[in-house]
Amino acid sequence: MIYLKTHDEIELMRESNLLVSRTLAEVAKNIRVGIKTLELDAIAEAFIRKNGALPAFKGYSGFPNTLCVSVNEQVVHGIPSDYMLQEGDIVSVDCGVCKNGFYGDSAYTFLVGEVDNNVKSLLKVTKEALYKGIEQAIHGKRIGDIGNSVQEYCEKNGYSVVREMVGHGIGKHLHESPEVPNFGKRGQGIVLKEGMVIAIEPMINLGKKEIAFKRDGWTTVTVDGLPSAHFEHTVAIKKGRADILSTFDYIEEVLN
Ligand code: CO
Repeated sequence: MIYLKTHDEIELMRESNLLVSRTLAEVAKNIRVGIKTLELDAIAEAFIRKNGALPAFKGYSGFPNTLCVSVNEQVVHGIPSDYMLQEGDIVSVDCGVCKNGFYGDSAYTFLVGEVDNNVKSLLKVTKEALYKGIEQAIHGKRIGDIGNSVQEYCEKNGYSVVREMVGHGIGKHLHESPEVPNFGKRGQGIVLKEGMVIAIEPMINLGKKEIAFKRDGWTTVTVDGLPSAHFEHTVAIKKGRADILSTFDYIEEVLN
C-alpha cells in the first residue's frame, strides 16, 4: 500500500526534513579527529529535541541511538560508540526525525582530515549518483528508472552497488512502500505518481558489492573491507521535476 501525500502533508514533511538537514549541519560542525561517534550522537539528539521533534531511529526495532554512524568499511546502520574518528576516515551519518507526525530522513558521508583521493572520488560519485536518481523521480517514470540511473553511473565509474539494502517510501512511518533499490532496469517496477514521497539512498562500495552483518545485529560492512559511501535525500514526486525535501546546503555551508 503506497500512501500519497497531500500538498499540506508534503510541507510538513519538508519541515521534518529540513530539521534533519540542520541536525546534520550540527554534526558537520563537530566532525574532527578524536571525537567519539557517541559524542556526535548526543549533539544530534539534543538538537532534535530542542527543535520540538523526536529522533526517529532511537528505539526503531530496538536501534539504540539517534544517528547511524558508519565508518570506512561500514556500509550503514553503524551504532555510535567510543570509537574516535581518525585522520583519513570517512563517516556516513544517517539521521531521521519525527515532527508533527511526519518523518524526515537524510544521510551524508563526511571526510575526516586528509582522505585518499580514490576514497574522495567514491564520495563524489556516490553523491552525484544520488542526484542522477533524483532526476528520474518524477511523475510517470518508474522505480526501475531511479535504480538504473544510480547503478549505471556508479558502475561506469568502477564502483559497486549494495543490493541488500534499499531506499524506501516515507511519511507517517519511517519506512513505507515502495522499496527504492539503487539498481534495476529502466521501465520496470511501479509507476511513480505525484504525492509519493521516497527516500533515495545509494550505498556504494569502492570494491565488491558483497556485504555482511556484524554480530551487533545492525552494522553492515563490506566483505572485502574496502570503504563504502552513503548519501540520502527524501524526495516528493511531482510532475516535471522532483521536489527534494531535505538539503545538503546547511552541511556544505559548514564544510566550505
Ligand atoms: Co532511509
